[in-house]
Amino acid sequence: MKKLALIGCGAIASEIVEAVNQGVIEAEITAFMDLAPEKCLRLQQLAPRARIARNIEELLETRPDLVVEAASQEAVRQYALRVVEAGVDLVVLSAGALLDKELLEKLNREAEQRGVHVYVPTGALAGLDAVRALRRAGIRRLLLRTVKPPKSLGVEVNEPRVLYRGPASEAVRLYPFNVNVAAALSLAAGMEAEVEIVADPRIERNTHIVIVESKASRLEIRVENVPSPRNPRTSLLAALSTIELLRRITRSGGVEVGS
Ligand SMILES: NC(=O)c1ccc[n+]([C@@H]2O[C@H](COP(=O)([O-])OP(=O)(O)OC[C@H]3O[C@@H](n4cnc5c(N)ncnc54)[C@H](O)[C@@H]3O)[C@@H](O)[C@H]2O)c1
Repeated sequence: MKKLALIGCGAIASEIVEAVNQGVIEAEITAFMDLAPEKCLRLQQLAPRARIARNIEELLETRPDLVVEAASQEAVRQYALRVVEAGVDLVVLSAGALLDKELLEKLNREAEQRGVHVYVPTGALAGLDAVRALRRAGIRRLLLRTVKPPKSLGVEVNEPRVLYRGPASEAVRLYPFNVNVAAALSLAAGMEAEVEIVADPRIERNTHIVIVESKASRLEIRVENVPSPRNPRTSLLAALSTIELLRRITRSGGVEVGS
């Protein structure tokens, strides 16, 4: 059985721990780490054999096969390279941090040299398998339009308003909690997405529309997400997508559908 350690003990981590306890993810949790230790304590009640790590070295001492970052872009900058250097696979939720080319190149180089996998789940989006496949046909245009209720973008407007239009790398800097999807999409396509962020008082669900134009296909993907009951800034789909990735990684064998 694979050993799993978690950085960040918030909404997504809580769903992961439940999925482990339900046997959906075939793994044993060895460690929790969070800036707020009380959050680790809460999750440790559900996984009493796991240790609470005070720093990354203590977490790695529990000898996990896989570390899941479900914390923040800062946590990726702080710990991702160390995890990979220790020869441990890594799942990165705060994908925005990987738009930093220097960090991405370093991680990729280290991971290749050590035979380590760094996974970025599809998260709150859909269709990254097709986007990745279309790279081979050449992608001419890559657009992400994110439409959210005004309060989740911290504004008050009476009609739809475009708050941002520009490259993904700038969007993730200005809206770090809202557009990890922009980063995951750009990484899948191998090019930076053009991003539009719209506040719309008429909608309740966080909505992402992706348009991909290539020689082989034109994709138009629309995802309307319900917020996580544990964290209104996070879509429930992000946790479910991570659980699905972890289920596949930890499963000992069997038929798997989708690329
Ligand atoms: N890729 C996607 O589609 C997607 C979707 C939703 C959320 N996310 C990202 O996933 C991450 C987790 O989301 P969540 O809803 O579980 O968040 P959350 O706020 O519920 O939990 C995050 C936890 O991480 C801890 N934390 C933050 N920085 C840390 C650090 N440097 N070291 C240790 N602990 C740290 C916080 O104290 C908090 O308890 C966030 O960065 C979020 O933006 C990605």
